[in-house]
Amino acid sequence: THSIIFDTDPGVDDAQAIAIALRHPEIELLGMTTTYGNVDVGVATRNALLLAQLAGRDDVPVAQGAAAPMVKARHAPPAHIHGANGLGDIALPEVEGRADPRSAAQFIVDTVSARPGEVTLVAVGPVGNLAAALQLDPAIIDKVKQVVIMGGSVREGGNVTPVAEANMFNDPDAASRVLTAGWPLTLVGLDVTHRCVLTPEHMKRIEAGQGELGQVLAGSYAFYRDFYHEFLGIDGCCPHDSCALAWLLRPELFTTARGHLTVATEGDAEGQTIFAPEGRGFIEARWSRTPLVHVCLGVEGEAVSDWIADVL
Ligand code: BDR
Ligand code: CA
Repeated sequence: THSIIFDTDPGVDDAQAIAIALRHPEIELLGMTTTYGNVDVGVATRNALLLAQLAGRDDVPVAQGAAAPMVKARHAPPAHIHGANGLGDIALPEVEGRADPRSAAQFIVDTVSARPGEVTLVAVGPVGNLAAALQLDPAIIDKVKQVVIMGGSVREGGNVTPVAEANMFNDPDAASRVLTAGWPLTLVGLDVTHRCVLTPEHMKRIEAGQGELGQVLAGSYAFYRDFYHEFLGIDGCCPHDSCALAWLLRPELFTTARGHLTVATEGDAEGQTIFAPEGRGFIEARWSRTPLVHVCLGVEGEAVSDWIADVL
């Protein structure tokens, strides 16, 4: 079993991943922490609470976090991709629950410290909450089990700029701190998520299997799909955030490389992840000031998409 905190900016593909985190028998979901990104942070929190409620899991705490990047000005939320409400602008039921009174960063520090060596952080939005938690208590570096981040791109290019992936681009300064902190970390980026397509057939199965939650997943998917058709010419959508959970639960479907990872924080390359594989002589000598991490480079895309539909 993986005991996880899920850090998220829901978001259509976040919602799919949240459903997996709420439903999968081998995941103990200790809580969700929210950030701005796909939507304002208040909307992100509402969506996280709602999804837990629809899954009958309002026992899961939700702690609200970053409303803006650590250093830079905030980018406008991409309403054309996720809808103004983050869930494809479908009508949503009222939320009954309330957020945890703690900040996301405090929730992360408390939860990790209470169970040293046991908690995995899975972050699928801009990573300001993880950076804030590091600032609050750097000792969590040695206490987390591992950190899995959906974000970045090593060979694939970007999805916001030619080189930057959205989660990195939305807070490059936080990303730089989090990726170089020295905790056990795996990056699940566009190199693999763009190889996975959740098709309309997959979504039909998910809708049928998930009751009221299924209606929200299917309704928001219909909106998100238009963007992917235009952007990548595919019929379906990339289930980016679910890939982070797929990596955790089905690592054999991925190939990874170890090396040094940095994030550009300024200029045209802002938000670009730069990866120097280990053992390449001068390359490593130049970049070895940062700790080693793992980066996913390959994936059995169909198997991952099938896995998502099977879990749900
Ligand atoms: C990432 O950006 C967000 O829009 C998605 O939810 C995903 O986390 C993909 O680049
Ligand atoms: Ca996300």
